[in-house]
Amino acid sequence: MIIKSLDQLNQISLKIIKKINKLDCILLFGEIGVGKTTLTRAIINNLQTQNKQKETEVLSPTFNIVYEYEINSFKIMHYDLYRLKTDKEVRQLGIFDHDINTIKIVEWAEIIKEKPKDRLEIYLTHEDNKDTRNIKFKLFGKWEGFNAN
Ligand SMILES: Nc1ncnc2c1ncn2[C@@H]1O[C@H](COP(=O)(O)OP(=O)(O)OP(=O)(O)O)[C@@H](O)[C@H]1O
Ligand SMILES: [Mg+2]
Repeated sequence: MIIKSLDQLNQISLKIIKKINKLDCILLFGEIGVGKTTLTRAIINNLQTQNKQKETEVLSPTFNIVYEYEINSFKIMHYDLYRLKTDKEVRQLGIFDHDINTIKIVEWAEIIKEKPKDRLEIYLTHEDNKDTRNIKFKLFGKWEGFNAN
């Protein structure tokens, strides 16, 4: 699907939120500057708004690896694996270990070898126009049947 604006990206984040629950896992793929953090920010800010919280800043966790957001009865762990080199480092993070009431959103998910059964994979690529992106979804487990249109 072609995304022509940040507003359209925001609409897609709302479609994703409709299907999200406390155990969810979203893996983001795509090169630098393609919009992984921008989409994550939209998901987190819209979840905050829907849960009657103030929108917070959502920064890229490139250097910290993970930032955490508390939303009423659940939390969101936003990971960026760009700086990790080995599968061992990924496993040590235990991204999928503390599964209770935690939504996991992971940028640079290419490095993950063992992925959870239920997951939404999102692939972003650049198009010719500066503000245009191509977004593709791969659906696994509970996400099968998801339609972002
Ligand atoms: N349609 C669009 N979708 C997403 N981002 C867009 C779009 N149009 C313009 N942009 C801009 O592209 C940039 C995307 O940067 P962002 O930090 O989200 O990328 P990233 O994939 O997270 O990069 P990194 O790999 O460094 O983490 C932002 O400045 C955003 O405003
Ligand atoms: Mg990013």
